Amino acid sequence: MTDPVHFDDRMLSLGLARVSEAAAMASADLIGRGDEKAADQAAVNAMRDQLNMLPIAGRVVIGEGERDEAPMLYIGEEVGTGQGPGVDIALDPLEGTTLTAKAMPNALTVIAMAPRGTLLHAPDVYMDKLAVGPGYPADVVSLEMSPQERVEALAKAKGCKPAEITVCILERPRHQEMIAGVRETGAAIRLITDGDVAGVMHCAESEATGIDMYMGVGGAPEGVLAASALKCMGGQIWGRLQFRNDDERARAEKAGITDLDRAYALDDMATADVIFAATGVTDGSILRGTKRRPGIVETETILMRSKTGSVRRMQYRTPHS
Ligand code: FBP
Repeated sequence: MTDPVHFDDRMLSLGLARVSEAAAMASADLIGRGDEKAADQAAVNAMRDQLNMLPIAGRVVIGEGERDEAPMLYIGEEVGTGQGPGVDIALDPLEGTTLTAKAMPNALTVIAMAPRGTLLHAPDVYMDKLAVGPGYPADVVSLEMSPQERVEALAKAKGCKPAEITVCILERPRHQEMIAGVRETGAAIRLITDGDVAGVMHCAESEATGIDMYMGVGGAPEGVLAASALKCMGGQIWGRLQFRNDDERARAEKAGITDLDRAYALDDMATADVIFAATGVTDGSILRGTKRRPGIVETETILMRSKTGSVRRMQYRTPHS
C-alpha cells in the first residue's frame, strides 16, 4: 500500500475536477435524447482521456465493469501517466444514465481518488445502504434496525417528531415493505427513480435538500462512491452486499472479499483520505446541470477533500463550437 502521506491530494484535486467536468460536458449533448448508452459512452471516453493526462499511477477499482464486459475504465485498468503516486480510483462517468436520457434531475459524473489499496473493491452487485448526514452520534441508526426504528432513532437524535423526518428511497418494487414501514411512522419519503450517490449526498446537506436519511438497496459500486463523498462532507453510511446468485458471490470472492455478510461502515469502504469530484449533468438539488449556450458551455462541480473537510463549488465556463 502507498504511504498515505505521499498522497498529494491537494495538488491532484483540481485535476480530478477537470476529469469530472469533461465527462459532464461530453454527455450534455445527449441529455433528453433517449439514448442511455450513447450518453454513458460519451462520458466514459471523456473521463478516460482526461484521467490519462493526470500525473498518477492510477488503478480503477470501481469502474464500468469487469475487463471482459467493459472496454474502457474496467476494474483493474491502469490510468494516468504512470509518473506519480499510486492511487485507487472509483468512478461512475455517468451516474444516472436513464436520468440523462430522459432529462430528469440529479444525473452526475462522479470520481473519487485515494491512496492505492484504500478503497473497497466492491463488486458489481447490490448493496443494502443506510446513510445520515453529519452531527449525529456514532451509529445513531443501523442496518439491523427496522425502517420504523431507524426513523424513530433519528428523530430522537434530531430532537424532532418522526413526521418531521424525510427519507430518500429508490422507487423499486423491492422497497415496498421498507416504504410502508417508513410511512407507518408518519415520516415523509422522497422517492427517486435513479441515482443513489446523489441520494446519499443529499443527507449531508439536509438544510438545502430537506433529506435526513437515505435507505435501500442499490449498486455496491455506488455505495463506495457515496461513502467517499460523505467522508469529505461529513455523515455516516453503512452497507452490506446482497447477492442474487452464485455468479455474484463469485464476483465478490474475485474482488478479494472473504466475509460476504460483512456490514461495512464508512471507514471500511474508504479507509484513508480521499478526494471526490462530481459535476452536475442535469439540474439537481446539489448541483446545477451542464448548460450549453451558443458558443459556450458551463458546468458546476463539487470538489472535496476529506483530509481538510474542504468543499468547493466550482463554476466552469469554456468556449465551445
Ligand atoms: P446507472 O447510472 O448505471 O443507470 O445507475 C443508476 C442507479 O440508479 C444507481 O444510482 C443505483 O445504485 C442503481 O442504479 C440501482 O440499480 P437498479 O436500477 O438495478 O435498481
